Amino acid sequence: MSDDRLIIFDTTLRDGEQSPGASMTKDEKVRIAKALERMKVDIIEAGFPIASPGDFESVQAVAGAIKDSTVCGLARALAKDISRAGEALKHANSSRIHTFIATSPIHMKMKLRMEPDAVLEQAVEAVKMARKFTDNVEFSPEDAGRSETDFLCRVIEAVIDAGASTINIPDTVGYNVPSQFGSLIHTLRERVPNSDKAIFSVHCHNDLGMAVANSLAAVQNGARQVECTINGLGERAGNAALEEIVMAVRTRQDLFECDTGLDTTQIIPCSRLVSGITGFPVQPNKAIVGANAFAHESGIHQDGVLKSRETYEIMRAQDVGWSENKIVLGKHSGRNALRSRLNDLGIELNSEEELNDAFARFKELADKKHEIFDEDLQALVAETSWSSENERFKLVSLRVCSETGEIPEATVVVSVDGKERNSIATGSGPVDAAYKAIEQVVKSETELQLYSVNNITSGTDSQGEVTVRLSKSGRIVNGQGADTDIVVASANAYINALNKISDGEYSREHPQLGDV
Ligand code: KIV
Ligand code: ZN
Repeated sequence: MSDDRLIIFDTTLRDGEQSPGASMTKDEKVRIAKALERMKVDIIEAGFPIASPGDFESVQAVAGAIKDSTVCGLARALAKDISRAGEALKHANSSRIHTFIATSPIHMKMKLRMEPDAVLEQAVEAVKMARKFTDNVEFSPEDAGRSETDFLCRVIEAVIDAGASTINIPDTVGYNVPSQFGSLIHTLRERVPNSDKAIFSVHCHNDLGMAVANSLAAVQNGARQVECTINGLGERAGNAALEEIVMAVRTRQDLFECDTGLDTTQIIPCSRLVSGITGFPVQPNKAIVGANAFAHESGIHQDGVLKSRETYEIMRAQDVGWSENKIVLGKHSGRNALRSRLNDLGIELNSEEELNDAFARFKELADKKHEIFDEDLQALVAETSWSSENERFKLVSLRVCSETGEIPEATVVVSVDGKERNSIATGSGPVDAAYKAIEQVVKSETELQLYSVNNITSGTDSQGEVTVRLSKSGRIVNGQGADTDIVVASANAYINALNKISDGEYSREHPQLGDV
């Protein structure tokens, strides 16, 4: 890799999933991984295989599905973790094992209860073992941001000698500030005698809101890999946001001596996909991917932009994948027009059957909504993959009465294992009534943790996209639904989540990185 290339290592599926509630199923992880691959992300950290059978299977599935990006699995510096990661990545086209152990005084003393020399030895053993599975080994001294520089230098030199080709410096607790973190990277590269044999990477958390700034300071000091997540998802306050790093480097080429190989037009579709699947909405004023990121409200700004875009815009909205909100298809469009527009959006359907299904849904939508936008198509295809033939629960019909001064009432017919069941319930609103009616049939005993509705496009005929988060005995799932009728979208999202929880496909607590 040449020195002017900045490697993008996406950890949405691993650190991103450590956000409380951001659980994803195996299929959802594969969908996100494919979107990351389409965006030309260099490395996808697919999970932490030792954490649970679900994590193992997800890493395995991503490794099998991805051809162009390198797929990475996380492992503590322990033999059992490393062999589990090696096993999960066995069939990857290109694989990496990322092994880590903490090096800060507080972590070594209080968490690991180990002396520094023993930590160093374990780090070296871990890298040597990982090299038996792949030539591509990354090592992270966890909590490097609070580690002693002399000790860090010793550990880094030793693990490079043992065969690590990437050294990742994590600011695990988001404690650093840009000038300090930049100079740490500079010092490490200067002082570690074999530093030229490895690529330096950074992994910054956002506890003080400086994850992106710290990462960029590191890049200016020679880091050539950045670990980041879509929408800045991640443990606690999150990780550095991929879209912000990538666009900062691309926009300020006068300041950075490197650039990424990313197709930035895939940023918005990816951001939407991750937000829909995890149920973590993107705040409207979020840089790059927020709904207002390119909106000019003030008259002076609007006038300036109309005269010359550069007066108030430093990036082009379409370069990050915002569409011009043009009507793309209508009621009379045919299957080929749909297929071709989906291709333009970088969406591949896997079979004629999937195209037929998407087309049927498209016709249904076109009957309700005259103007179909790119965003509608994206939601429609996502919906095709939310539901599958062998689900236990299906919404057959829903009728809701809502009138001023009257208590809302819902009547539902839900198919359970192929048998139709009816139910009527009242609630404080139409969605509450519908959920109660469904619950009377399903008796899931789940707890509703999140209910959110977002409009997919503008206008009162826009589809509403609903995300529902349910928990049961420590398991968390997210369900999605989209429809021009938000009560129907809500019922579909609830049924989608119930299917996931009953499937048991995804059952685990979040991995505990500290449990060594
Ligand atoms: O934040 C952190 O230190 C991590 C490591 C596993 C790299 O996520
Ligand atoms: Zn992290």
